[in-house]
Parts: sequence; structure tokens; C-alpha cells
Amino acid sequence: MKFKKNILCIGAGYVGGPTMAMIAYKCPRYRITVVDVNPTRIAEWNSDDLPIYEPGLGEIVKATRGKNLFFSTDIEGGIRDNDIIFVSVNTPTKTFGAGAGMAADLQYWEKTARQILQYSQSSKIVIEKSTLPVKTALAMERILNYTKSSLSFDVLSNPEFLAEGSAMTDLENPDRILIGCQDTKSGLAAREALVEIYANWVPREKIITSNIWSSELSKIVSNAFLAQRISSINAISALCEKTDADITEVAKAVGMDSRIGSKYLNASVGFGGSCFKKDILNLVYLCRHYSLHDVADYWESVVRINQYQQERFVLNMLTAMFNTLAGKKICLFGFAFKANTGDTRESPAICITRRLLEEKAEIIITDPKALKNAKADLAGVDGKVSFIEDPYKAAEGCHAIAILTEWDLYRNLDFQKIYDNMTKPASIFDGRNIIDHKRCFDIGFNVYPTGKPALTQS
Ligand code: UDX
Ligand code: UDX
Repeated sequence: MKFKKNILCIGAGYVGGPTMAMIAYKCPRYRITVVDVNPTRIAEWNSDDLPIYEPGLGEIVKATRGKNLFFSTDIEGGIRDNDIIFVSVNTPTKTFGAGAGMAADLQYWEKTARQILQYSQSSKIVIEKSTLPVKTALAMERILNYTKSSLSFDVLSNPEFLAEGSAMTDLENPDRILIGCQDTKSGLAAREALVEIYANWVPREKIITSNIWSSELSKIVSNAFLAQRISSINAISALCEKTDADITEVAKAVGMDSRIGSKYLNASVGFGGSCFKKDILNLVYLCRHYSLHDVADYWESVVRINQYQQERFVLNMLTAMFNTLAGKKICLFGFAFKANTGDTRESPAICITRRLLEEKAEIIITDPKALKNAKADLAGVDGKVSFIEDPYKAAEGCHAIAILTEWDLYRNLDFQKIYDNMTKPASIFDGRNIIDHKRCFDIGFNVYPTGKPALTQS
């Protein structure tokens, strides 16, 4: 069959894979190819055991793979045969040289731009899907249009706002699609070509356009605002614990102000994920680059509070457990950075595990989807760590449970059964406020919620 459009995506990760699967699903007349440098990852995308867990993803891949969705390692052929190229390679925080620990590491992006230039035999539309520092498109256009060949390359910014765990519903029904372009004839034409793709299922009024720098910046700012709300509520949770106020009640009262809104006000053990910290640090770096030091300090404090919240969680455990954790068994309920994903990147659980091990506690980790990644994250750490999928078995003989991920599964456990098999006094530290605290207290637990008075037995 002759396809209406041929689309390539470079980077088969958490963003590239699901996004392309959705485009393939919604646009059966487009042929979508996803390529990646990592052959193992591509083999997994071509198997029944996909490399990422995302509710609903498996069904959509099954419905499209081999029909109009293809996964391959042939980057050269992919570039040659497709005129619309999404790029969603990773842009981690730089770990070396100038801007280490802050700036985005653009080496993969630049390498990809050079590959596109090298293998192209026709003009291309190149779409930034990865989150990038503002003005990256300028650098990309310079690289791509460096030679005086007859080929032309238009770079668009089209940031992806999906959240993990709800990626497929976010992709199917996005709040908005943002497309930034250069205000040139070919830039505007490229933008129209991209609008046409999304218009297959997204209402036109939700497809918004902007200049390219606004688009790049909007993505970073969206993540910074979301993270800032979590740090704000987490900062107040510390105050609640000192004053007997209840963070859930405060968040409800504050969030009912329609100017503020109720979402992203769940106090927690801290935010994780591959984006929030990285993007805020990126923003901080940009501000410092332009000598906006007060603005940089403001945003940096969002990350500082997030670290503080994780450290505070560990110190609360230490204080509650008679100031020593040495030799005590602590069971972590959840290791993923949020529910409904196996992803553990920047998960607060990593930092908390390391801190608890420093205190010489023995750690037992349970999680329905993230144990494979947890093992990789903790490879080589000093101390006793084990991994048990069944939460009942994992908690057996433990002195305490720390709830670190808001998996629904943990809300409905038989806590009486768990309590009966634990070492006494048994404590629960609820870093997500998801269980029935009063009920667990009545069973016999000492209960330490986040941002609420503790319920202790004596
Ligand atoms: C995405 C975005 O691209 C990133 O900028 C954003 O901030 C977070 O989400 P994500 O999809 O989560 O990243 O990253 P990851 O799952 O690591 O996927 C990136 C893929 O690109 C990997 O599979 C990697 O192998 C591939 N890659 C990387 C290439 O194909 N070529 C490269 O040169 C580098
Ligand atoms: C985020 C953005 O939501 C998404 O738009 C962007 O494209 C990528 O970054 P993601 O990191 O996948 O998505 O998940 P998100 O649901 O935003 O959660 C991030 C972290 O914040 C998680 O650790 C989550 O548990 C935490 N969180 C979220 C809270 O602690 N409290 C809340 O109220 C909400």
C-alpha cells in the first residue's frame, strides 16, 4: 500500500516509542519508523516484552506494529527514506566540563543532527521532541544548513507534555499541542505539515503555534511550574508536621480557590522522574548564563526543597525509630518514581535507599513493575538490599515500612496480616499519604504520614 506520509522518529525511549505508536494508531495511512542506536531496545520494541511499561501501550503497538509502525536500527536508511523526522534522543544533565550538573548535555542531539545532514538525500522537516534549552533550534539549523547543498532543513519545536503512567491517554487527549517555528515561508509550511498530522485526532483549537523560542522555553517552564507546586506543598508539609495542621486539609482548602486549582498539590516524599530536576537545572543554567542570578536562585530553591523533603523523610524515620536504624529491617513499598510505571529515573527511592544504607539499615524493596530498574540503580551499593515482588513477603520480619510510590495496590493491602508478621513495634512511614492511617494505627502500627500529625501507640 502507498502511504500518505513517511515519518521517522530517532530515539525509541519513553517519549519516542509511545508518541509514534499513537501517531501510527491514529493515522493508519502514515508509515512510521522508529530507529534507535540501541539494538537491544529495538529488539524489545519488536517483541511481546516492550522496553517500557505504560498502561495501554501494548495494545496500541500490537494493533500497528508491522502494519504502519516499524522499529529498526537502520538510522541511515530511516533518514534517507523519510522527509519528516522527529528527534527524541535523550538530553540528560551534563556531567562534565562547563555547566556540569546543570546544563543539558546536547551531544546526542548534535550527533543526530549531523547524521541527518550526512544521510539526507532530500530536504527534511526536523522536529525537536526532546526537551531542549531555548535557542537549540538555532544551533541545529546552523549545523543542518551548513553546507551549501540544494537540500533545506526546517527545524520545528514540538515539545511532548505526556506524563509517564498516563502517556497513552495524554497522547490521545492532550491539553494542547505546541508547535514553534521560524517565521519564514518554509518554516510556516513545515509547521502546516506537522499540524496536519496532529489534526487527525486533536481538535484544531488545541493545536497552538508560537515562535520557536517560546515553544522551547514553554516546555521547560511547564515542568518548572509543576515541580514548583510540589515543592511548595512539600515545604508546607514540614510546617504542618510541626503545627498539627493536616496537609490534605490545607491542600484542599487552598486548591479550591479556582485561581490556584487542586492538581499537583499532593505532598510526597519528593518528585522524581527524568524531567523535573533536569529541566529546572537547565532553566537555572540558562538564567545564570544571562546573569539573571535572582531568577536562577528562585528556581534552584525548587530543587533544594525537593532534596530537603527526601532527607527530612529519612531523618523522621531515624528519630521515630529511637535514633538508630543499624541492623533494622526496613521495607520500601514502591521504587518507581510514580505509580503505573517501571521507570525509576531520579526516583526519591534511590536517594532514600542510599541514606538508609548509610545508617546501616537492611533494605527490602518491593514494587510491581520497577524491580529490574531498582536492581540496576543499586548495583554495587554497600549494604544489605533484597528485592521481593510480593509486598506481604517483603514486609515479613521488618521493623518498618516506608511507602515511596503511590501504587493503588498498596491502598488495599491486608495491613493486619502485614502487621502480624512484622517485628514490634512496627512503624509505617507513608511518603504518599495513600493508606488509611487511622485503621493502621488501630491495628497497632505507629503511623507517620507526610504533613500530618503522627499516630503513635504510646
Ligand atoms: C525524553 C526526551 O527526549 C528528553 O529530552 C526529555 O527531557 C525526556 O524525555 P526519554 O524518551 O525519556 O527522553 O529518554 P530515553 O528513554 O532515554 O530515550 C532516548 C532514546 O534515544 C534511547 O533509547 C537512546 O538509545 C536513543 N538514542 C540516544 C539514540 O537513538 N541516539 C543517540 O545518539 C542517543
Ligand atoms: C512530567 C510532566 O507532568 C509532563 O508534562 C512532562 O512531559 C514530563 O514530566 P512525569 O515526570 O512523567 O511528567 O510525571 P508527573 O506525573 O508529572 O510526576 C512527576 C513527579 O512528581 C512524580 O515523582 C510524582 O510522584 C510527583 N508528584 C506529582 C507529587 O509528588 N505530587 C503531586 O501532586 C504530583
